[in-house]
Amino acid sequence: MKEFQNKVAVITGAASGIGRALAERSVQEGMKVVLADIQDEALTETAAILQHKGGTVLCVKTDVSRAEEMEKLAQETLRAFGGVHLLFNNAGVGAGGTIWESTLDEWEWVLGVNLWGVIHGLRLFVPIMMAQDTGSHIVNSASLAGLLPYHPSAPYQVTKQGIVALSEQLYYSLKQWKAPINVSVLCPGAVRTGIMDGMQQTPPEWQSNTAVLEAPSQTKPDYAAALASMRRATAMGMSPKLVAEHVFAAIRDERFYILTHPEFNTAVHARMQSVLLGQNPPDLSRVIGYCLK
Ligand SMILES: NC(=O)c1ccc[n+]([C@@H]2O[C@H](COP(=O)([O-])OP(=O)(O)OC[C@H]3O[C@@H](n4cnc5c(N)ncnc54)[C@H](O)[C@@H]3O)[C@@H](O)[C@H]2O)c1
Repeated sequence: MKEFQNKVAVITGAASGIGRALAERSVQEGMKVVLADIQDEALTETAAILQHKGGTVLCVKTDVSRAEEMEKLAQETLRAFGGVHLLFNNAGVGAGGTIWESTLDEWEWVLGVNLWGVIHGLRLFVPIMMAQDTGSHIVNSASLAGLLPYHPSAPYQVTKQGIVALSEQLYYSLKQWKAPINVSVLCPGAVRTGIMDGMQQTPPEWQSNTAVLEAPSQTKPDYAAALASMRRATAMGMSPKLVAEHVFAAIRDERFYILTHPEFNTAVHARMQSVLLGQNPPDLSRVIGYCLK
């Protein structure tokens, strides 16, 4: 996709962080935007910022993990703008610790938002894009955790690797179908957003989950250090605006993998190489700061 003017972008998790930056960039490119998020107030605030910049904005309060709410998002998008050209499956949360310490609720919540949210987005929006005669593009927000062998939150890691798999599956299926839809998967390292405070957005039915990212019940001391290191990295991370620049450059170039943090390429390479050489997962502690110390 090279031309964005007057086209329509749908962004999930649009009320803050990377999603808000993608929405701002979409407006800057002359697109109409549909903002989907679970946070009502932040959604309204984001819409006001974008409207102030001249954007045409539709807000649809959406919990991406719920099929019926995603269906409503698709219907409202079509009703308001008649089509969709750019879909950002971006909403994401993190919770839990090791596989056995993460509660069932944590597993279900993170898989619901991160994985089912993307599945619903693809199930619902790909057929709409296929029925249009214009080209379109889908960007799924994974993470470096989708390419590296270790993250302190097992549910987060599993979903992010799942999003890379979903995106690659989508890429090949769309090629086979000769559909005019391109795909990218975004795999950033630390980005300066509120993701580490994301539990504030926990839907009421999950609020019994207090043993989340910051407070695993019984855990190794290393875990707290890993989280502290992630919190520091996020606080000093790349600006969401720069991430959005990388993303739009990749859309223009029809590039599938969007790796915004080249300092981690050695770690990704080491992981891939250990698979090919039949070796055990590599010790990446020096590269990623928290791992197998
Ligand atoms: N910040 C980072 O360092 C980083 C690194 C790699 C990948 N990512 C990924 O980027 C994406 C955006 O995260 P961010 O860093 O901007 O965090 P963020 O917390 O600022 O934004 C996430 C947004 O998703 C929304 N959200 C949460 N649950 C939702 C649900 N059920 N339905 C709809 N919206 C929901 C939140 O309200 C929030 O506005 C996520 O998928 C995240 O995993 C972030």
